[in-house]
Amino acid sequence: MGKFIVRGGHPLNGSVKIQGSKNAVLPILAASLLNKGTCKLNNCPNLRDVNVAIEILNIIGAETSFTDHTIRITCKEIKETVVPNHLAAEMRSSIIFLGPMLARCKEISISYPGGCEIGPRPIDLHIKALKKMGAEIFFANEGILRCRANELIGCEMNLDYPSVGATENIMLAAVYAKGRTIINNPAKEPEIISLQNFLKAMGVSVYGAGSGRIVIEGREEIACDMEFDIIPDRIEAGTMMAAAAITGGELYLQNIIPGHIRPIILKMTEAGCHIQEEEDSLKVTAPKRLKAVDITRTSPYPGFPTDMQPQTVAMLSLAQGTSIMIETVFDNRFGYTEELKKMGADIFVEGRAAIIRGVPELYGSYVKSKDLRGGAALILAGLAAKGETIVDGAVHIERGYDKIEDKLRNVGADIIKID
Ligand code: UD1
Repeated sequence: MGKFIVRGGHPLNGSVKIQGSKNAVLPILAASLLNKGTCKLNNCPNLRDVNVAIEILNIIGAETSFTDHTIRITCKEIKETVVPNHLAAEMRSSIIFLGPMLARCKEISISYPGGCEIGPRPIDLHIKALKKMGAEIFFANEGILRCRANELIGCEMNLDYPSVGATENIMLAAVYAKGRTIINNPAKEPEIISLQNFLKAMGVSVYGAGSGRIVIEGREEIACDMEFDIIPDRIEAGTMMAAAAITGGELYLQNIIPGHIRPIILKMTEAGCHIQEEEDSLKVTAPKRLKAVDITRTSPYPGFPTDMQPQTVAMLSLAQGTSIMIETVFDNRFGYTEELKKMGADIFVEGRAAIIRGVPELYGSYVKSKDLRGGAALILAGLAAKGETIVDGAVHIERGYDKIEDKLRNVGADIIKID
């Protein structure tokens, strides 16, 4: 497993181009299966999860290419309906193939996604909704989920929780369902709006994404050549803002949509950063020392994103005063704080709350990343710490960040990756 070696203490300064969004491109790759024509996707990040999704598409029968951040997918015919275990296990969000595969080829077998480092990851909402649309879903041996639907029927449903993945699966299954599907209480994340825009670009009649009700009209086969731009990654943008903040630097971020990162901008401002916004860029200037922020509570969009929780805690561990972070989305997303404590952070976790008492300095140490955003938090801490930090488990971080070491080095960080 690769490691990052970070020598801290260099304020970051310069300009960073933000990558395309991981969480937007993954459901769009799955959605491309609905089209017999060619989908050309621009601004795609080169990430492990994206490459796993492409491998799954290839096995299913698509022809794909990935060069210069552009992915082309053509799926004229389906050759395989079983997603191999090793690929499904590598990427939890492979469950997003359920909806489009049921829609296009009426069946799919895929391993049931297990829990992960940030807690159990049930898919009951996905299953309940697809069953309501007429799918038969049962668990075969060894955790394999077998799904079949001779016909999917559009219907109205109410999500008990605005799950991002469940909303996406229902939207994609609904494209080839008979009649109209209505999702009440769907997720409102920008990635849902982007998926709606992608479907519209393929000619699907869908509206309401971003509101409390999404409506999709089922339709006949789609066979069109189309081109689509992946939206900027709001979590990479937030991580880079935190990198500027924690090192006392100044970064200019390009290729962002400020409206998508509003809660992050407000939190950074509360911590004492100065943010100057433009249409598709922003400049973040850190104060000499960050201020503690009272209470931050993660919640579904437009709330504060759970995917920015660890990076924010890392940043607040050096702030003046005591901050509180409450995690409401995932059950177990504070594991990385044990590693931050090895670097001198003063963090007390009780259930879903973390109390962060700001310390004046962090110290370089050997730490282990066990999940994507927790790993990013450790790199951030390393950028500010005195001495050398070794962040083991680079593989987790590379699931979501395209060459993070190069981007940080370009703006003055002392960081390398070794295998
Ligand atoms: C997506 C994002 C992930 C982000 C999360 C929340 C992708 C590829 N991943 O994950 O980065 O952290 O949204 O913003 O887009 N839940 C259930 N039953 C279900 C589905 C979800 O109980 O059937 C629970 C989950 O366990 C979790 C919460 O709901 O506690 C949120 O999950 P969900 O919104 O579905 O997140 P993902 O789509 O998995």
